[in-house]
Amino acid sequence: MKFFVDTADVDAIRELNELGMVDGVTTNPSLILKSGRDILEVTKEICAIVDGPVSAEVVALEADKMIAEGRHLAGIAPNIAVKLPLTWDGLKACKVLSGEGKMVNVTLCFSVNQALLAAKAGASFISPFIGRLDDINLDGTELIEDIRVVYDNYGFGTEILAASIRSPNHVADVARIGADVMTAPPDVIRKLASHPLTDAGLASFLKDWEKTGQKIL
Ligand code: G3P
Repeated sequence: MKFFVDTADVDAIRELNELGMVDGVTTNPSLILKSGRDILEVTKEICAIVDGPVSAEVVALEADKMIAEGRHLAGIAPNIAVKLPLTWDGLKACKVLSGEGKMVNVTLCFSVNQALLAAKAGASFISPFIGRLDDINLDGTELIEDIRVVYDNYGFGTEILAASIRSPNHVADVARIGADVMTAPPDVIRKLASHPLTDAGLASFLKDWEKTGQKIL
């Protein structure tokens, strides 16, 4: 499963990228706001750090304007994936931009039927938001499971990008199901390394090591 990092924080991206944990980046208007940076500037900087796809989201609501914004964003770097909302106009823009050979990430997906439409419109990625479904007492990981079945039934090449990942359990769940990609905030990716038994085991090994009186270096 590919790891995308869901942030516009350049320092966090750089740190995780050096560890080989970043196959791509996703941003959205809220993350741009959080970064306090200009969208074009920060996106260009991220594209220079990361080799994989960097999603940059349009904000227009009509297809023509989405297409114009998408072309502008795609001009930032060859690894831009234009992020479009899953609306009828978003699907129209997806069809046009993917037809021009641009990567498109269709976002704000909350149902299998929406995912089907995005695949038929030529999306490179579909982003089902699992945390936001869990927030309203629905099952986000079940949606990933359903989309996996439907895409595999018909051989759609659109990659399932599990988004709105809030916890290490979400990561393990979507990996088990076979999501192609997951995008998570940097702190969730860091948390994947933690286990209380690792900490306890290390503490007891070091205690015994001290008793040997030895040194390695
Ligand atoms: O990639 C989409 C993601 O940023 C949404 O996450 O936690 O705001 O639902 P969240």
